[in-house]
Amino acid sequence: MNHDTRHPISSEAAEILENRRREVTATLGALVEAHPMITLELGCGHGHFLTAYASAHSGEFCLGIDRQGNRITRSLRKQGHAGLPNLRFVRAEVRQFLDCLPEGMRLARIFVLFPDPWPKRRHIKNRMLGPSMLAILAQHAIPEAELFLRTDDFDYLEWVEANLSDSVEWRMHTGRVWPFERETVFQRKARSYRSLSAVTGDPARKG
Ligand SMILES: C[S@@+](CC[C@H](N)C(=O)[O-])C[C@H]1O[C@@H](n2cnc3c(N)ncnc32)[C@H](O)[C@@H]1O
Repeated sequence: MNHDTRHPISSEAAEILENRRREVTATLGALVEAHPMITLELGCGHGHFLTAYASAHSGEFCLGIDRQGNRITRSLRKQGHAGLPNLRFVRAEVRQFLDCLPEGMRLARIFVLFPDPWPKRRHIKNRMLGPSMLAILAQHAIPEAELFLRTDDFDYLEWVEANLSDSVEWRMHTGRVWPFERETVFQRKARSYRSLSAVTGDPARKG
């Protein structure tokens, strides 16, 4: 168990979390041998992007996670209709998921599309791509793994750019073409958006 001791939770909530942790661990344990390298989408929502991406990239094993059960239910429906052997959706909170990731399973590509922006200063700690999350993602990544972010919140994008430039594990991949287009639910609603990409690698090559 690895609950946040600053925010105690009820024994019922702890049991739900523990059961989910067991489920995620079992799901990943059953996949790791056949799929040691994965393309991961964090906060996959209804699964539009990853379903289309997996269909176009049959050589990559694609895993989408979201903490909202109803969104994963809709994603699973798409997975069922598409019948793709290289696609899975898992209900999980991102830190919990990474905690359960088996040693032998590595991240090759990571997509984060229109993450919750948490614009208020006091809520910035809730944003998905903070310094500690970037470090954890890099620990689980292969060398030259790629991170792709797209958002309509330009303050968020600049905040991630700053986190990446402070990171010893990641460097910005300026000029990298966005590898695959499929509009998401939030992309459809956005008036405009920007994208960035980064790559893990030798910190000596940073700059
Ligand atoms: C604004 S929506 C974007 C959904 C989708 N990517 C799109 O572009 O339509 C953000 C999604 O991230 C999920 N999410 C937010 N924080 C999360 C976390 N810590 N772990 C897992 N999912 C998370 C939310 O449940 C939600 O589905």
